[in-house]
Amino acid sequence: MKIVKGTAAWLKLRAGPLFKGKTVGFVPTMGALHAGHRSLLKRAKKDNSLSIASIFVNPAQFNDKRDLARYPRTLAGDIEILQKEKTDFLLLPGAGDMYPDGYRYRLSENSDSKVLCGAHRPGHFEGVLTVVLKLLNLVRADKAYFGEKDYQQFHLVREMAEAFFTGTKIIPCPTLREADGLAMSSRNLLLTTEERQLAPALYKALRSSARPEEINRQLSELGFEPEYIEERWGRRFAAAKLGKVRLIDNVKLAFVP
Ligand code: PAF
Repeated sequence: MKIVKGTAAWLKLRAGPLFKGKTVGFVPTMGALHAGHRSLLKRAKKDNSLSIASIFVNPAQFNDKRDLARYPRTLAGDIEILQKEKTDFLLLPGAGDMYPDGYRYRLSENSDSKVLCGAHRPGHFEGVLTVVLKLLNLVRADKAYFGEKDYQQFHLVREMAEAFFTGTKIIPCPTLREADGLAMSSRNLLLTTEERQLAPALYKALRSSARPEEINRQLSELGFEPEYIEERWGRRFAAAKLGKVRLIDNVKLAFVP
């Protein structure tokens, strides 16, 4: 696997002979890679002649500075995982590479980014959409792979990629779960042992026949701090804090009794 740090070096490589006539699959990440990411990397490898991952903990999408400081950073382990998945290139830019303009130029969306997580994390999707557009412009992939655990992100990125004629097809990949149902997430690393035991209750509640208000009450009684339980786009969505860790999950309404 070739690791490329700066955007200038990357653009030179991308324009060169290595990519001629090749199809490119891209998996953008913020690192702390887990089995969920591995499933995206495998898809990118299988569907394309070259696979590319990026690791960039994007400051612009963190509305809470403490959350950014706490976000798990596990670069050595991530590189091992990428090598095992035979990823061809790792793009590893710094904040100066991604925001040479100091984040003066940014991309906003005025509807679906204002609900669910967007209603509780001001500026979050502006940061996500801006960095994903920059990454798509840098990588110029045929396909980019996004997990359905962050369904609102996938939905917004897919529409943005079309709206800005990026030429990259955004592919949704199913949420991977631990044996007890907890959706895999880099943030799970931050849960205490007790919180980790309690965390699968979020998925269980989402799949129950209870109505959203009732689920909210049940989760609060268990010790979660629910932000929202809401149904839209044929899915039921939840976000709740467990201690300092914010967990999100969603299920298709077809799976709700
Ligand atoms: O889902 C993530 O890890 C991030 O939001 C993404 C898509 C890499 C943008 O920073």
